[in-house]
Amino acid sequence: MRDNGAMIAEQKTVLARFLDTAGKYLEDGYRRPGEECAVTAESGGEAPDPRRAAPLSATPGDTPGETPGDTPGDTPEGIAADIRSCRSCPLEAARTNAVPGEGAEHPLVLVIGEGPGQDEDRTGRPFVGRAGQLLDKMLAAIDLRREENCFITNVVKCRPPGNRDPEPMEALCCKPFLRRQISCLRPRSILCVGKVAANLLLETTEQAAIGSLRGRFFDYTATDTEGTGPIPVLATYHPSALLRNEDLKRPAWEDLKLLRAKLEELKGP
Ligand code: URA
Repeated sequence: MRDNGAMIAEQKTVLARFLDTAGKYLEDGYRRPGEECAVTAESGGEAPDPRRAAPLSATPGDTPGETPGDTPGDTPEGIAADIRSCRSCPLEAARTNAVPGEGAEHPLVLVIGEGPGQDEDRTGRPFVGRAGQLLDKMLAAIDLRREENCFITNVVKCRPPGNRDPEPMEALCCKPFLRRQISCLRPRSILCVGKVAANLLLETTEQAAIGSLRGRFFDYTATDTEGTGPIPVLATYHPSALLRNEDLKRPAWEDLKLLRAKLEELKGP
């Protein structure tokens, strides 16, 4: 058992690091000059949501998830190692294991959840609890498997205590890791499960309900997903929500069918 003095000193260090990171983010408005990375409503789809704000972008070297020049040579393992050694926000203090994500190297679908829960924190693997088992079934229903053609990760890579939603600053601290994962994995499509992932990726200025974001594709565009063009993004209900409310299963299934159709379309004739 550590004495109170040691605990307070440690908390102060974590807070100082956190404030330093936040300050660096705020300095340049979270944006690397010259880099564009944006989400737009897909052509032919509905008009872009006016609540969408700044592009998902960051300054390499100024953010915990990135170091200068690391994006071109990034590998999933390298990003995972950086995540495991990250100490940029207070979630690090309480974690047993960071949970970088797992799956195929160039997945058909990058699944983005909210944050690790108790089982994930214990094992270091994403979506291994009850919600994870349902997620696997949802993916299997449209012929997808996490180890074969999906990559599964979360907005935050460390467990928020008591399974609460990640704080905005925690999500912001972790965002460069997600951006690097997208650039490195170059997924054919992105599936956001739940409102936390959907709001982060779609850059809403106010937290929108998942019901208003699901059921249509958006484009995620980043210049460093070289040669891949925009990546279609679909949002749907989080499997935990489906476990709580059976009525959501039908619209979630409609979303999954949309995703399957999109993957067929991308495959070509
Ligand atoms: N819920 C999530 O959002 N992510 C996990 O990894 C597990 C449960």
